[in-house]
Amino acid sequence: MSIRYDEKTRQLVLETAGTSYIMRIEETGYLKHLYYGPKVGQSDMTYPFRIYDRGFSGNPYDQRLNRAYSLDSMPQEYTSYGVGDFRINTITASYADGSRCAEYKYESHEITDGKYRIPGLPSVYDNGDNVQTLTVTLADTASNIRVRLYYGVFEDLDIITRAAEIVNAGEGTVWLRKAASVCLELPFGKWDMIHFHGRHCMERQPERVPLFHGIHTISSGRGMSSHQHNPFIILCDRGASEDSGPCYGMMMVYSGNHKTEVELDQFDGVRAVMGLNDERFRWELMPGTSFCTPEVILTYADGLTQMSHNYHRVIQNNVVRGEYKLAHRPILVNNWEATYFDFTEEKLLDIAEKAKDLGIDMFVLDDGWFRNRNDDNAGLGDWTPDRRKLPDGLDGLADKITDMGLKFGLWIEPEMVSEDSDLDRAHPDWALTAPGRAPMMARNQLVLDMSRRDVRDYLFDAISSLLKNRNITYIKWDFNRPLSDVYSNAVPAERQGEVPHRYYLGLYELYERLTSAFPHVLFEGCAGGGGRFDAGILYYSPQIWCSDNTDPISRLRIQYGTSFGYPQTTVSAHVSASPNHQTGRKTPLSTRGVVAMTGAFGYELDLTRLTEEECGEIREQIRTYRDFESVIREGRHYRLSGLEDGSRYFCWEYVSRDRGRCLLSIVVTDPLANGPSIHVRLKGLIPEAVYSVGGEFECTGSALMANGYTFTQLTGDYPALQLDIRKV
Ligand code: DGJ
Repeated sequence: MSIRYDEKTRQLVLETAGTSYIMRIEETGYLKHLYYGPKVGQSDMTYPFRIYDRGFSGNPYDQRLNRAYSLDSMPQEYTSYGVGDFRINTITASYADGSRCAEYKYESHEITDGKYRIPGLPSVYDNGDNVQTLTVTLADTASNIRVRLYYGVFEDLDIITRAAEIVNAGEGTVWLRKAASVCLELPFGKWDMIHFHGRHCMERQPERVPLFHGIHTISSGRGMSSHQHNPFIILCDRGASEDSGPCYGMMMVYSGNHKTEVELDQFDGVRAVMGLNDERFRWELMPGTSFCTPEVILTYADGLTQMSHNYHRVIQNNVVRGEYKLAHRPILVNNWEATYFDFTEEKLLDIAEKAKDLGIDMFVLDDGWFRNRNDDNAGLGDWTPDRRKLPDGLDGLADKITDMGLKFGLWIEPEMVSEDSDLDRAHPDWALTAPGRAPMMARNQLVLDMSRRDVRDYLFDAISSLLKNRNITYIKWDFNRPLSDVYSNAVPAERQGEVPHRYYLGLYELYERLTSAFPHVLFEGCAGGGGRFDAGILYYSPQIWCSDNTDPISRLRIQYGTSFGYPQTTVSAHVSASPNHQTGRKTPLSTRGVVAMTGAFGYELDLTRLTEEECGEIREQIRTYRDFESVIREGRHYRLSGLEDGSRYFCWEYVSRDRGRCLLSIVVTDPLANGPSIHVRLKGLIPEAVYSVGGEFECTGSALMANGYTFTQLTGDYPALQLDIRKV
C-alpha cells in the first residue's frame, strides 16, 4: 500500500520506494503540508514546525485558535485566497456578488488502486504497475466550490503526479481566474532553482540561481510551452550535485500557456505553484460543472542524475504511448536543410537513392510539397500536393521511395493557415484574429482556432486522406508561430478567456483521433524546432525535433539542458552540413555524428554532394549507431561534465540496462595547447565486473568509476570521440 491514513496523527502518507510525502488534516480543517523527501517511515512529522505569534500575519476566525495560528506561515497542499495567506496562491475565483475570497477545508478523502485520469488532457498512465490514487476533497462553504486534489503515487518510479479539479457545487456561476495544478512547499532549507530558458535555435539552457526573497516567475504566454521557458523546474539544495543532495523536480504535462511561481517568503519558507498561466485565463464554471487542471509530475531524488533518471523512466514508460514507445526508431534523412523549398521530384529521388546506398531507413519530405508553397508566404491549410514539383503526386513519390526499400515520411503543419490559401479564403473566421484588428503576422501565417470542432474535423479529414492508403509511416507535425490575437469566433464574448486552454483541449483531441486512427505512423513533434518540447506533446508523439539549430556545438548545450527532464529517445537529432546553416560554424563530420547519436538519429543535408570519404564515414556512423542503438535507447544516460565544463568540453555516457555495455562520448569545444588532460569518472557500471575500454585496456567498473578515464590530447577543430566500453 503506497497511501495510508493514520487516524492518530491525522496524517495522510504517500510512499514510493524511496520517498515519503506527508500532509495533515488539521483540527481546523486546513490541509497542511508536512513533508516531501527521503522515506521517513511512521513518524509524526509536525515536530519541526514551531507555531508562534508572527506580526502582521493574521489568524483564522476560529475561537479554538490563538494568535499563533496563521495561514500566512502554514505550508499547504492547495491554498485559500484572500483570507490571510498573503503568499502566492493556487486558485482565484470570483462569484456573482463580486467577492473573491475562498477558504478551502478538508471534506473527505479516498484511496483507490490505479491512476486517476484527466478527461481531455494528456497525463501519466499506469501500466498496471504499483500505482494508487489519493483524492482529497476540499470545500469552501461560502461559495460551495469543491476542490478535488488528485495524487497519483507511482511507488516503483519514485513519482507522484498531481492535478486538481474545481467543482462548482453551488447555484451561481463562478469565474475561475486562476487554477494551478500543484503547490509544493519546502518549509526548511536553502534552495537553488534550476530552470530551462532559451530562444528559437537555443532552447532549454539550464540556469541555476539561488532563491532570493520574493517571487520568481517562469512562464509562457505565447500559446505554446515555448522556446523561452520550458514547463519544468528543479528545486535543489544549495550543495546538490549530479551525484547527491536533495533535488525536487516539477514538470507540467502541458503544451500551452504555463506559469511557475516560486516564492521565498519572509520566514524563509519556499512555496512553488505550477499550472496554467492565469494571465489570459478566465473560465466560466456553471453550476454543476467542473474544471480539470493539467497534470504536474513531481519527483524527489538524491542528486540531479537520479532525478533525471526518474523523469526519463516515467516519460518513456508511462507518458509516451503507441507502437514506437520502446521500439527501434528509423534512421532518417530529411530534405529540409538539403533543399529548403527548392526541390524537384528528381532531386528528392537522388537524395533518397543515396540514402538507401548509405544504409538509411527512411526518407522524410519536409515543407514545400503542397500547392503554392514555394516559400513560407502561402499554401498552409491546402494539403494537396504540388503537381509541378511532384508530377506523380505524393502517391508517385511515396511509391518510388518505398520501391527503393526506404520508408517514407511527411511534414505537415496542421494548426496553421496562410492568408494566401484556399482554406483561409473559404473560412476566414477559422483563424484566431481579434475583431477590428489586423492580426500580428509571424512567418506570414495565422493560427487556426483549434477550439472549433469544424476546424478539427477538417484537419482530421485532410490528414487522414493524406495517410490513408499511402505508404507514409512517419509524420513530422510542425508549429511555427506563437499564438497572438487569441479570439475565437465560435466562443461568446464573456468566455474568450477560455480560448487559450480550449485551443489545447482541441489540439489534444485531434492528436488523439489521428494517433488512434493511424497507430502504425510514427509522429514526431516540432515547433520551429523545440518550441513545444514538453510531456504533453510526448503523450502523442514519441519524439520531438529538439531544435532548429543543427550546429553540433550549439546542440551540445541544447541536448545537455534537455537531458535533465527528457529521455534520449525523445530527442530527435540530425547530422547536417558544414559550415552549419544556422551558425556558419565548421565542424568535422565525426563530431556531428557523435552529437546526433542521442536518441532519434538522422541526417539533414544534401547526401548527393558528399565525397566518397564522407560517404564511408557516414556508413561507419550508421554501423556504430545500429550497434549501440539499444544501449542509447534503453540505457541510462549520465552527464559526465557540468555546465562549468561546457566552455571546454561535453562528456556523457549511456549504460545498458544490464550495465554490461557503455558508450562514452566526448566533444572538446575548446582544445587547449598543452592544457590539463580531461579526466572523467564513469558512472553506472558494475563495480566488480571487468570491462574492456575501447579495446585499449581492461579494468574493473569500480576502477573506472573511482579512478576515472583520461582522454589524451584531443586536438583540432571540435574533436570528438566515442569509446565502446564492454564487460569482458
Ligand atoms: C521549422 C522546423 O523546425 C524545420 O525543421 C522545418 O520543418 C521548417 N519548419 C519547415 O518550414
